[in-house]
Amino acid sequence: MPYNAPEGTADMLPAVARLWRSTTETAAKLFAAYGYEPIDTPIFEMTEVFTRGIGEATDVVGKEMFTVRSGENYKRALAAGSDEGLKSKQKLSLRPEGTAGVVRAVVQHNLVEQGAAPAKLFYAGPMFRAERPQKGRLRQFHQIGVECLGATEPTADAEMIIMLMRFYETMGVPRQNMRLLINSMGDDACRPAYRESVRQFILDHEDEMCEECRRRAETNPLRAFDCKNETCSHVMEAAPKITDNLCDDCRTHYEAVKALLDAAGISYIEDPTLVRGLDYYTRTVFEVQVTEGMGSQSAIGGGGRYDKLAESVGGRPTPGLGFALGFERMVLALEAAGALGESTKRVDGYVACVDDSVRAAAFDLVCAARDAGLCVEMDHQGKSLKSQFKMADKVNARVVIVLGPDELSQGKARIRNMRSHAEKLVDIAAAKRLLSQFGGQRVGGASSPINIDTVFSFENDDKE
Ligand code: HAM
Repeated sequence: MPYNAPEGTADMLPAVARLWRSTTETAAKLFAAYGYEPIDTPIFEMTEVFTRGIGEATDVVGKEMFTVRSGENYKRALAAGSDEGLKSKQKLSLRPEGTAGVVRAVVQHNLVEQGAAPAKLFYAGPMFRAERPQKGRLRQFHQIGVECLGATEPTADAEMIIMLMRFYETMGVPRQNMRLLINSMGDDACRPAYRESVRQFILDHEDEMCEECRRRAETNPLRAFDCKNETCSHVMEAAPKITDNLCDDCRTHYEAVKALLDAAGISYIEDPTLVRGLDYYTRTVFEVQVTEGMGSQSAIGGGGRYDKLAESVGGRPTPGLGFALGFERMVLALEAAGALGESTKRVDGYVACVDDSVRAAAFDLVCAARDAGLCVEMDHQGKSLKSQFKMADKVNARVVIVLGPDELSQGKARIRNMRSHAEKLVDIAAAKRLLSQFGGQRVGGASSPINIDTVFSFENDDKE
């Protein structure tokens, strides 16, 4: 029986894989304008990085992490019946998100030296959460994220939110389909008392709330705001709100962020129940939701400030903030808005052979063109000329270069422009001389310094 990809994972077939690459390139370019540099951290980390960083009581850590065991440790854990005998460095987990690992790397490599400018880092890659798969919710999904470490001022929060919204605009998610929610989660000065008041509120309404929320009262009371149970969400509407309980510093910070967003013309909805699913947040949190065509997984991206995270992974106090967006959910949002452009394979030229006698010459021309950085293909299946033209059409070749024994004996080939259907005979040696000037470029496709029209002089008859 043929195997399928594991439940909750999806193969990125070429059209989606192309979109993933172009999306990460767009992100890299846009984020570079804001001073961001790339970083890549391991796909697995010591489990403690996540338990300490994200919080043991979160669903992400408590219920959804994939454990990784090396061969030896697997045997040891199996013999002992648990992981308990393993040293911390042997307890590993696949990353459920990127922030904890990036902050661990920033601390490990001292990327935010005292008095230095903030470290601005972006990443793109797979994340793993053992959730129940459904539309827009995968067990292996892809995030593009940014983290800024060392910035305290509200301008950094506003910059972060603006950058995320600009990214969605650039990708073509219509503004009117998006809802930007913001909130402040307070800090060490005001959150403990607020948390206690929510805990007390849940206990006072215990008999109306689900078992999970009753448990949350002790472990993570703020998560009760996210309960999907209708009665719980109805009860929580009357719960105390963080925005009524912020200390002066947090209130001033929050007001400043909102004023900066107003000035930048970014519309947002204040949602005092937005608590997010990760425990590291302090002060500003935000989430972008799309309602159209998303099923119940409407959050396409989110983030916030985490001024205590560096300390919880063993670093010195370093304020930070960031966001991550879900690639698969953004694709669903683009699809629902009819804004997902077609992603087709496109090659510069297709070298077709009239018969086998010209195959070696065709191969030689293809090699020269590729070495000059052009994207060209030829037939490797012994197909008829007609079928080769069909293949050329399929890969959207701009030109087809037909090599036949008669023309070849005079050093010529017939070139057809596949858009204008113009045809001409060209001199192979001259084309190869031109190609050889660019030999060794090997950059390929769109970034090639030459284009196929120049080599085969079609410049002027392709104006359709
Ligand atoms: P998050 O809200 O957990 O935040 O995830 C960010 C985005 O990843 C979500 O808005 C969603 O689009 C996507 N996502 C999450 N889980 C899944 C899933 N199971 N399937 C498909 N897509 C999913 C974070 O991960 C934080 N690290 C963001 C951050 C960065 N905060 C500060 N810096």
